[in-house]
Amino acid sequence: MPENKIFAENLIPISKNEVIRFSPLPADFYIKLGEDNFILAGRRGDTALQDLHSLKKDSSIFELFVHREEYKNCVGATLQIAEIVITHKEISDLKKVNFLFSCSEQVFKEISELGFPHESLSHAQHATRSLITLVAARDDLNSLLSLLAEQDDELVKHSMSVSAVSVAIAWQMGMTIQATLEKLALGGLLHDIGMKEIPPEIAFKSRHLMNASDVKTYESHVGRGVDILSKMPSVPTEVIAVAMEHHENALGQGYPRHLRDVKMNPFSKVVALADCFCELSLKSPTNPVPRTAVDTVKLIELAMGQPFSKPAFQGLKQALGITGKAKGFRKTA
Ligand SMILES: [Fe+2]
Ligand SMILES: [Fe+2]
Repeated sequence: MPENKIFAENLIPISKNEVIRFSPLPADFYIKLGEDNFILAGRRGDTALQDLHSLKKDSSIFELFVHREEYKNCVGATLQIAEIVITHKEISDLKKVNFLFSCSEQVFKEISELGFPHESLSHAQHATRSLITLVAARDDLNSLLSLLAEQDDELVKHSMSVSAVSVAIAWQMGMTIQATLEKLALGGLLHDIGMKEIPPEIAFKSRHLMNASDVKTYESHVGRGVDILSKMPSVPTEVIAVAMEHHENALGQGYPRHLRDVKMNPFSKVVALADCFCELSLKSPTNPVPRTAVDTVKLIELAMGQPFSKPAFQGLKQALGITGKAKGFRKTA
């Protein structure tokens, strides 16, 4: 029927497990029965989905569907739950990381695919606040990274890891003001948002297998990220600088502008190092055999000639407990 066809085009999927958490429902939710055939499973404002018990048990249903324009309500509701989950003492770290990961996945989808620039920024800020809380609650950065390493979506995994490592480095460097950490964490989370526009066959191709055209396409993620972020109102200038400069380094060997240390934004110096560290130490399609944190630091220092900001590198070593004693991390008001 024609109305079903319009229906299908305007609906987007959302995980059943995420919808089950909502009370009240932040949107109308639908179950897909077949191509262009959906039935209502719960209305916005209802306390729960209809037939919740049988829906929970139905292993053939993995996702429900929501109107495109109501997806932002779902992201907002998920982030509100995240704030409670992240600070809950009896919830395991793994569950906290899983939850925050699904929040970040939703935020990325919102920013890059759904066009809700205003809500997206506020949702990304919410997500980074929760991520900072997660980093702040522990002295052991490696254990947090190992939990993140188990996640699926490569871009979200990398982005959350870079954000967490950036915050940990900054803390060791004495950057402890909450507003500063939030901007830095946001820059870390969104630094590669332009990768959403790079075809997977290039995004996940090893650098040494790329031809000149592949390299050009790959490196365009920097400009694409700046474009995406510039369309969102009120994005801090530091966040856009991070997207622009996260592949630069202190020696002027990076891209796209071959900036040297003195020309780089202070936030970019931290994220550029965190980005390189995560790239080399986390498992990914382009890094199938990841190095340990210690080996990664040695590689950056010895084989690469440590091309990053010296204070940031020292901060990384301290955050990993490699040099001296980590100062620890406590959230400042
Ligand atoms: Fe990048
Ligand atoms: Fe990156």
